[in-house]
Amino acid sequence: LNLKIMPLKKYIRDIQDFPKPGIGFKDITPLLSNPIARQETLELLLSTLKDKQINKVIGVESRGFFFGILLAEALNVGFIPVRKPKKLPYETISATYDLEYGTDTLEIHIDAIEKGDRVLIHDDVLATGGTAKAVCELVERLGGEIVQCNFLMELTFLHGRDKLGDNEIFAAMTY
Ligand code: PRP
Ligand code: MG
Repeated sequence: LNLKIMPLKKYIRDIQDFPKPGIGFKDITPLLSNPIARQETLELLLSTLKDKQINKVIGVESRGFFFGILLAEALNVGFIPVRKPKKLPYETISATYDLEYGTDTLEIHIDAIEKGDRVLIHDDVLATGGTAKAVCELVERLGGEIVQCNFLMELTFLHGRDKLGDNEIFAAMTY
């Protein structure tokens, strides 16, 4: 399966200075638009999830929604959106995390996870890890068990995995 890792990077487009000067943006739209690359990426993610008894998949707004829903469909389990503030209509809990300047918040419906649920957390990129850490916190507060955090890409030079404790982490591509 490692053979598949390099070719997939062909479908990630580097955009310099987006959204701000000095930032190198990893654009996944070429990957999304190619059905073979998309299928291979999905299979690579799924290959690490055999016999893990996952019963909920979380996708993190917004770029975590794309493969989050594909993973939930493939695993035949529920899909749970974690969203930016004031988007979810029912009762929520929220977690706040630090950005370079300021903070950001993510929310989940209080009934989205039940105690003992075996949860897969998916997002497109693991960068500083602030986002994923906040999502882990939400799952834990609702009594869910985090089976794995998976990502299309991990930016290893930002050491995001150091924020995620003992949780299992998998990324389809690493930079
Ligand atoms: C990006 C990316 C991840 C997060 C990773 O999302 O999609 O969710 O940042 O960064 P971190 O590991 O440093 O927290 P963003 O907040 O830009 O929103 P979007 O997905 O809606 O584009
Ligand atoms: Mg995001």
